[in-house]
Amino acid sequence: MREFSKAFLWGAAASAPQTEGHSLENGKSASTWDEWFKLAPKKFHEHQGPKDTSNVYEMYHEDIQRMKELGMNSYRTSIAWTRLLPDGRTINPEGAAFYQSYFAELKANGVEPIINLFHFDLPWWLMEKGGWETRESVEAFAFYAKTAFELFGDTVKYWTTFNEPLVHIECGYLYGYHYPAIVDFKRAVQVGYHTLMAHVRAVEEFRKLQIEEGKIGLILNISPAYPKSQSEEDLKAKELADLFNTNSFLDPVVHGEIPGKLIDVIKENGLAPITEKQDRLLIQENTVDFIGLNYYQPRRVQAPEISHVPAEMPSDFYVPYDKPDKRINPYRGWEIYPEALFDVAMMMKEQYGNIPWYVSENGMGVAEEERFRDENGMIQDEYRIDFIKEHLRELHKGIQEGSNCFGYHTWTFVDCWSWLNGYRNRYGFYRVDIENNFKRTLKKSGLWYKTLIEQHGFSDK
Ligand code: BG6
Repeated sequence: MREFSKAFLWGAAASAPQTEGHSLENGKSASTWDEWFKLAPKKFHEHQGPKDTSNVYEMYHEDIQRMKELGMNSYRTSIAWTRLLPDGRTINPEGAAFYQSYFAELKANGVEPIINLFHFDLPWWLMEKGGWETRESVEAFAFYAKTAFELFGDTVKYWTTFNEPLVHIECGYLYGYHYPAIVDFKRAVQVGYHTLMAHVRAVEEFRKLQIEEGKIGLILNISPAYPKSQSEEDLKAKELADLFNTNSFLDPVVHGEIPGKLIDVIKENGLAPITEKQDRLLIQENTVDFIGLNYYQPRRVQAPEISHVPAEMPSDFYVPYDKPDKRINPYRGWEIYPEALFDVAMMMKEQYGNIPWYVSENGMGVAEEERFRDENGMIQDEYRIDFIKEHLRELHKGIQEGSNCFGYHTWTFVDCWSWLNGYRNRYGFYRVDIENNFKRTLKKSGLWYKTLIEQHGFSDK
């Protein structure tokens, strides 16, 4: 039996823009996703846009009963900045009432809400002013965070500022997957710096309010780097990949300091962002209580054959290595490597002072899951059960070695909309039928998760 502690948090994660629907209704203003969909609908899988998400805005009561039925004791979602503060300053009463009711109902049903503030959905009014490139974004975010803490701090005890801050930076300013789809390393670094400062200022606001039992953290996507070989060059590529993708955020938010090595590399390459005098102290004084790590895949790297000096892209420091014998999820194209979760657990223990942390996302997106329906209509997603088991096995090993992990959340509870991929790959414990009023149907993995939670673990025969 792989047993976890009785207090372990079991649950799932989602986000406001991917689940709520009603994206331009009930007083909500447009985010970059709403506008981008208007500007370039063809970019989106089957033209499925942000307004067609799983209608949690209307269906949260029933969904919470479904969570309770599975025995989940926690759930993460986010607030849409544009729903709570449509113009950035004025509270939308309908939005505030919706979140208040949603969070209180989770709590009343024994499902601890973990509430995140930013999940890639920047307000359009802020984007028009330059988005995360302008320093104004830092104070705008701090005001939004303070408003949310004041409104919901009595109910919500676990807060996170950003989900995967690296994603809006690299997808928006390096690789073209998110609006504004700019390719510019220096601008990406500035966006990253302002994101970090926005996080830090939100933590500062949180501390000022002294919310009883309140805890605040950050959620990072973790893809530990593994080098192609032990050559000096490949090892350096691994070090730089971790520096940019892991230590860049974990060091300042946990240790209170941006790594000196990262500052050097950035300066040497003419990428230094504009900063303000008080920033260093703010970073130092506003570290987090816990960390969430979203783990899906490792990062295999090798040294680049040719590098530009100064660097023009991260690929001047490290490039992907396509490991020939890797296991892969063919629908998403991501490598499956559960062992990394043990390495991550050890990294948190050894390099990050064993700060409390949890797996805030882990899961498997599969296309055309209706193929696997049995005669009763239940999707027999054995592959998802195996995927979760394999990852929990490694996590359990890490906990036994002393890593301070307090929970595990899958992505996701009910199938949800996935940015440019729409509803192609499904991750949920519940199938969502988008043609039929978003009807939910339990999958086999949901039943399995229920037993896992009841038994505080699983038998590993
Ligand atoms: C995480 C994000 O990176 O992965 C989610 O926090 C996302 O927003 C999830 O949906 C799965 O990735 P994708 O691209 O298949 O939706």
